[in-house]
Amino acid sequence: MKQQLQYLEAMGIQAWQLRRRETAAPQEPAAGSPADTQGAAPSAESLPPESSVLVQAPDRPDVAGMGWGALEASVSQCTLCELHAGRTHTVFGVGNRHAEWLVIGEAPGKDEDLQGEPFVGRAGQLLNAMLLAVGLQREQAYIANILKCRPPNNRDPQAEEVVCCEPYLARQIALIQPKIILAVGRIAAQNLLKTDTPIGKLRGTVHHYAATGIPVVATYHPAYLLRSPLDKRKAWKDLQLAMATLGASRP
Ligand code: URA
Repeated sequence: MKQQLQYLEAMGIQAWQLRRRETAAPQEPAAGSPADTQGAAPSAESLPPESSVLVQAPDRPDVAGMGWGALEASVSQCTLCELHAGRTHTVFGVGNRHAEWLVIGEAPGKDEDLQGEPFVGRAGQLLNAMLLAVGLQREQAYIANILKCRPPNNRDPQAEEVVCCEPYLARQIALIQPKIILAVGRIAAQNLLKTDTPIGKLRGTVHHYAATGIPVVATYHPAYLLRSPLDKRKAWKDLQLAMATLGASRP
């Protein structure tokens, strides 16, 4: 318990943990309000997820039967969308390939593009603290993104980019067979769940990933939480929901 409190402190939420008297509960941000957006490039919550637009995927090698080696090689050589032209590295994903927890973010940022690893910047540090709060070292989870290449100026992923990248992530999910998917941020949650529901409404409920039945819990993006630390208490609730869901799935 003491250790968990330390991890919560690392998430920056000890203030509300220690507070004796709570005044009115903070308002859930209205859909489309600045407080309900997240990630590096906030945009209107009312926008549909890019992948909901009908877009044709270009010809690609069939990744459905690939093992890890072939899949990683295929991603590293991918030129299916325009993002390949501006990348330094593809960002395939890191962590335990047998993980119970799969964390899915939006897309690489500048640091991730330079290092070829997801969530290595400031948002990554907060994500690590969030994982510690649920008792996990970063290496125990698997961490990936909706996109494997960095969009210019951290803009939102476009429909055709998501369509091109989707089979890679789908294959990673099939290989890992996680017990829980934590979708961090609007882009991840909406694209995984194929919905345009705002993140503020997606969180708090257990969803499922496509036909697999793998539970998906949505929470705020750590980059958003860095800008809006008061919402860390909601993120902690989301993590508790994910832990409870995982616990309930154990025999
Ligand atoms: N934000 C994301 O969504 N993913 C990363 O890898 C880094 C920042």
